[in-house]
Amino acid sequence: MASGKFITFEGGEGAGKSTQTRLLAERLRAAGHKVLETREPGGTERGEKVREFILSGKARNYGPLGEAVLFSSARDAHIQEVIAPALERGEWVLCDRFSDSTAAYQGAAGGVKPSLIRALERVAVGSDMPVLTLLLDVPVEAGLKRVSERNGAGEEEADRFEGMEQRFHEALRDCFLQIAAETPERSIIIDAQQAESAVAEAVWEAVVERLNP
Ligand code: TYD
Repeated sequence: MASGKFITFEGGEGAGKSTQTRLLAERLRAAGHKVLETREPGGTERGEKVREFILSGKARNYGPLGEAVLFSSARDAHIQEVIAPALERGEWVLCDRFSDSTAAYQGAAGGVKPSLIRALERVAVGSDMPVLTLLLDVPVEAGLKRVSERNGAGEEEADRFEGMEQRFHEALRDCFLQIAAETPERSIIIDAQQAESAVAEAVWEAVVERLNP
């Protein structure tokens, strides 16, 4: 039995997941834990290739189902090569996005049937689900404003999904909230519209409450 703890961060665009993943990692390390920070798509060589292929828009012609299959294939490698071994070593694994993102982006917002999304999750993830998912929830307009400020500052260009219309982002948000409501045993919704430090505090409280680090 793996003794580590697997935590995922989920949410739409501009929710602040990357920052909060880093801040939680720092706090857990300060409490004496060994922490692995990773992200999806990414985390392995195959995952980084899938990331580049999809986010550049080159996989668009494969459609949402094709993208879901690619994300799931990368996820399979990520679990086998990175996540499971770290959990076996007793580490805390913090992952910026995981399978709920496929359900939201390719499923709810992309139109892939729920039964197909569930089948992919069963195959790629199986019982390797996180013990805790922190949903960083932010109203669509506020999230997109953060993204455009980041992009406007020349830090990054808009990727494949950031440029989608408002309706797409609303569908994402609804889906993430619905998943959280349906999986209360692993999910906690965090109000991510608050200041960064307040969000970090809420994240820490959730982790303390559920996992007693
Ligand atoms: P990233 O730059 O990590 O965006 P963010 O900072 O918003 O997390 O890019 C990841 C993008 O890939 C993001 O737009 C969500 C999308 N994505 C999917 O569509 N399906 C998935 O299964 C995953 C993991 C990500």
